[in-house]
Amino acid sequence: MQLSKVMGHRGAALLAPENTLASIRAAAATGVKWVEIDVYPIAQGGLIIFHDDTLERCTNGIGNTVEANLETILTLDAGTWFGGEHEGEKIPTLEQAIDCIQALGLGLNLEIKYDGTAIEQVVPPILALLAERWQDNDKLMISSFNYPALQWCYHTNKQLHLGYLVNQVPDDWLLKLAAIEAYSLNCHYKPLTEAQARAIKSAGYQLLCYTANDPQLVTDHWDWGMDAVITDDPRPFMALEHS
Ligand code: G3P
Ligand code: MG
Repeated sequence: MQLSKVMGHRGAALLAPENTLASIRAAAATGVKWVEIDVYPIAQGGLIIFHDDTLERCTNGIGNTVEANLETILTLDAGTWFGGEHEGEKIPTLEQAIDCIQALGLGLNLEIKYDGTAIEQVVPPILALLAERWQDNDKLMISSFNYPALQWCYHTNKQLHLGYLVNQVPDDWLLKLAAIEAYSLNCHYKPLTEAQARAIKSAGYQLLCYTANDPQLVTDHWDWGMDAVITDDPRPFMALEHS
């Protein structure tokens, strides 16, 4: 796996409208080598790059994301809320995002945003699209808060690099990581303790922390063994990539 120390969050969410191709390109322009984006399942099997359960915050649409159909989604403006210069920016499909990220030579941390139970309907099409289009498995991580979704990924393809995504590190983290031969634990930087970080590293897992937008917030974390930081603005972290 070719992980690097810095990963853009939702592309680079502070630099351009999150989870859009503009955001992915803005991340690449900082020199960052990896981006995290959210894939959200919508009506009729559609897969879009989007974070929220509702459309209002990041688009000019209304309603629940999960109920939207792709035809409607593709008409929405996902840029103006962030700034007039991004007017007309679209919500990307998973396919468009994969192609964009790959063309830029970036690594992809694809977060599966799904808190339902119909895993067997949601996860296979995501994995199928990745299998069809994503070329370098060493530049691909699949992460999710939805543990059953990760279990499905594991049983489908044991070569996938899986990131178990949590806010606080749960007591059963080792069992959970071991059962899916996870690549990493991806946790919020704030509640993480030194003891937890060192235990995760001693157990042989990669440790990623989100979402820190100021390098000062995670200076201890590097000492504790953190492997990568997920940030809305990679720029102040880029010196680390070369250290
Ligand atoms: O993957 C880290 C981070 O993206 C998880 O939280 O809500 O920003 O998707 P969220
Ligand atoms: Mg995310």
